[in-house]
Amino acid sequence: MDFQLSDMHNEVIDLARQFAERKIKPIIAEADREARFDRSILDDMAEIGLLGLCFPEEYGGGGVDYISLGLACEELEYIDTSARVVLSVHIGLAGLPIFTWGTEGQKSKYLPLLTSGGMIGAFGLTEPNAGSDVVGIQTNADKVDGGFILNGEKMWISLSDAADLFLIFAWTDRDKKHKRDHSGITGFLVERNFGGVSTGDIKGKLGVRAGKTGFISLDDTFVPEENVLGGIGNGFKVAMFCLDQGRYTVASGATGLIRACYDASVEYANTRKTFNVPISHHQLVQEMIAKMYAGYEISRNLYLKAGWMKNKGIANTRATSLAKWIACEQAEAAASDAVQVHGAYGFSDEYPVERYYRNAKGSSIYEGTREIQKLIQAGYSLKFRRDRPGRKELPTWPFEK
Ligand code: CAA
Repeated sequence: MDFQLSDMHNEVIDLARQFAERKIKPIIAEADREARFDRSILDDMAEIGLLGLCFPEEYGGGGVDYISLGLACEELEYIDTSARVVLSVHIGLAGLPIFTWGTEGQKSKYLPLLTSGGMIGAFGLTEPNAGSDVVGIQTNADKVDGGFILNGEKMWISLSDAADLFLIFAWTDRDKKHKRDHSGITGFLVERNFGGVSTGDIKGKLGVRAGKTGFISLDDTFVPEENVLGGIGNGFKVAMFCLDQGRYTVASGATGLIRACYDASVEYANTRKTFNVPISHHQLVQEMIAKMYAGYEISRNLYLKAGWMKNKGIANTRATSLAKWIACEQAEAAASDAVQVHGAYGFSDEYPVERYYRNAKGSSIYEGTREIQKLIQAGYSLKFRRDRPGRKELPTWPFEK
């Protein structure tokens, strides 16, 4: 076992850290206050290679491993959640599924566009009346000559208004709704310009206000047969695979949020005085800071282990889900304590901890609620959930030339 990060990992940390410090930090307080998403951030991310990190060079990617993706997410969310969400969606929920489940044609068409930022990807699973319960979706795909006609509405979709390519899940056969089958759902790669695609923004979010979250509406959208991802009827498995990658980036991002809470609290506790001493001298403040550090270490070790399993192509649903559950729970606790350490100042946007507090809440909801993660853990423990042999995992790293 080797806990040492490699030169490659440290280079990715520096890249993401410098980007977040230079491009996100100066604007984030105002962008969050005004709920303003800055589209140019996507171009900036593309330019330095953040959008293509863990894809082979032949597709324009950076060729780095899945641990690097997690480390980049940690650095981005250290500054703001909205920046990390871009990698979660564009890489975790769009690019990596195409890389793993796509045909050669789909990979050579879409991956160079995604890694270069020529296209932004998004993931359309959740609907107004179906989030945790995936088979509750209503979107329909009717077979026609040469393809499918899609109709439906997707909701709470990160980057919906900014994306050009959507991975949409729809019913191709509603009769096949069997629990151990779910083979009536199919994934489709839908380009914005296919016709009948409209998107919009959701206003008034509690957190991640500098990020785009919205809806996708599909109105008689024709999708050619070659844009089925992973084969007809494999949509449930493709969606679960996507979430295995997205949850990993949420876990690593939430780890960065914990570190941000910790650093802000240590600094404040060493400067703010009460009863003639810095508040860091008070044991109840020390306890909060000690718990933040413990939360950070636990969360970081969990996501790094999941990343290591991804590199090796080892089934990691259980490890990823655990990392997501614990990191998001620890982020909520750390953000709450960080506000507490800052006292009344933590209750205002003069300090960033109130933003961390609002952002942390979202991570226990999106990409599988805390409750879903607990059910997944219990399912593995009680042996009614298991990874079937031959299940598709990420292509192992290092990628073959
Ligand atoms: N990878 C591949 N296949 C998987 C898999 C995985 N991670 N997990 C399950 N499967 C397979 C199973 O092996 C099984 O196939 P077999 O019968 O061939 O073995 C099949 O899929 C069905 O699996 P389950 O029986 O485990 O499914 P279930 O119905 O019991 O439970 C669930 C599924 C865990 C509750 C799941 O529905 C779930 O995770 N729900 C939460 C969904 C979610 O996270 N939604 C939020 C999306 S975020 C979003 O949309 C917004 C955005 O922009 C970010």
